Amino acid sequence: MPTPMSPTVTLTLNPAFRIAPVRRRTFGAFVEHLGRCVYTGIHEPGHPTADEHGFRGDVLELTRELGVSSVRYPGGNFVSGFKWEDGIGPARDRPARHDLAWHSTEPNTVGLDEFMDWARKAEVEPMYAVNLGTRGVEEALDVLQYANAPQGIALSDERAANGHPEPHGIRMWCLGNEMDGPWQTGHKTAEEYARIATEAARAMRQEDPDLELIACGSSSSQMPTFGAWEATVLTEAYEFVDMISAHAYYAEKDDDQASFLASADDMDYFIDSVVATADHVRAKLKAVKRIMISFDEWNVWYQHRAESRPPSGDDWPVAPVLLEDTYTAMDAVVFGNLLISLLRHSDRVASASLAQLVNVIAPIMTEPGGGAWKQTTFHPFALTSRHAKGEVLDVRLDSPRFANERFGDSASGDAVATWDEESGALTLFLANRDAAQTLQLDADLASFGELELLEALTLHHEDPYAANTKDAPDTVAPQANDTVRLEDGVLRGELPAISWSIVRLGRRA
Ligand code: AHR
Repeated sequence: MPTPMSPTVTLTLNPAFRIAPVRRRTFGAFVEHLGRCVYTGIHEPGHPTADEHGFRGDVLELTRELGVSSVRYPGGNFVSGFKWEDGIGPARDRPARHDLAWHSTEPNTVGLDEFMDWARKAEVEPMYAVNLGTRGVEEALDVLQYANAPQGIALSDERAANGHPEPHGIRMWCLGNEMDGPWQTGHKTAEEYARIATEAARAMRQEDPDLELIACGSSSSQMPTFGAWEATVLTEAYEFVDMISAHAYYAEKDDDQASFLASADDMDYFIDSVVATADHVRAKLKAVKRIMISFDEWNVWYQHRAESRPPSGDDWPVAPVLLEDTYTAMDAVVFGNLLISLLRHSDRVASASLAQLVNVIAPIMTEPGGGAWKQTTFHPFALTSRHAKGEVLDVRLDSPRFANERFGDSASGDAVATWDEESGALTLFLANRDAAQTLQLDADLASFGELELLEALTLHHEDPYAANTKDAPDTVAPQANDTVRLEDGVLRGELPAISWSIVRLGRRA
């Protein structure tokens, strides 16, 4: 509850504070052959809502409601041992294989063609990762030709024979996955990876110069090679790639709630550092183009918990229950704040993928043969994707601060805004990261002309560890924030401790 002592966060914003246009690709997600993401996630033949291809209709519907723009596929760590050709052709002829990354058996029932059928139904753009762990340039070219070449060559004719005469037209291609990580099958040094990525990219561009190619960056800002890795890889691959990837997962560790609440500070730091490194290489090479960031794995993930322990020994199950984290109200606040960070870097983050989409550290959960429900994190993603429109605006904040171990101290309030000049829609996305104090919001919006308040929603729960479950799927959801009001062009209201909010305003008719 607010007290008369609640501190104020003052926001200064102006339509001229433009960062970049909102990019739809900020709202990407990720489907990996991991746990139940594919099997009993997006695909479950015989499920009451399944279509003729076995895709769950309830998951398709929730994916569209989530507002997902693009989906990265087929991994993740999985891709570094994957033979793409195992997943094409008649299903009965496809081999089952051990997936070393997740100690599971991959039946290959779903492969590239099925994924593309699903992507069309889900209305998402595909992003495809090639295997540069156990494989190389030749296989990267093969899968590219199979996917994108018009009929008339061996691999595209094979695609046509498999029921897809038209090219799939995949534009975004990841050159491997997390090759900086010692856990990766076929892990490489920066020099080794720079070589293979450059050669793969050069060949793929010879096949199709219009592809958008993404080199692997660091799998976290905490990697010992962070920074040096990006510099080495880009120095060699600069000419041939468009983006460099960044991956980040956050969790409350050792009961350090305050540092967890400040996670977006690390994301800001991560992005700023990769931009600085890429621009340093640009200067060194006297290059004109700028390398953009593909933040193609981000989320809250409790990696240290039992949920993330893969099977072991002789146990190689198909689609085991793995990484099925249950998200709390606080997780959703941190998650919404990560989206604020991604949006405010729209000048350099050209694409992002929430990892992952269904069942595996996911906003959508399913029960085999049963229902599907929304985790707490579903809500900030869906609302941001739906309402972020026009230009992203920088928001200057004068905020109280809170102490935390990881960063020393951090601003309690955080915010970004989007402004759609044409329709007159101004939307503010706000986080109160303070665990104890309500913040009084104060934002002078006079420079936007005559506005009216359309909606103010806040995601908050008095128990920050409250979560949504199959039986109680609506425990944590955004509620109308009736304290928010617009008076004489000034927006005021209360942002409860540990909360994420969206405030929508429109030009007064
Ligand atoms: O998203 C789960 C895993 O996290 C991915 O497979 C891997 O790329 C990352 O380490």
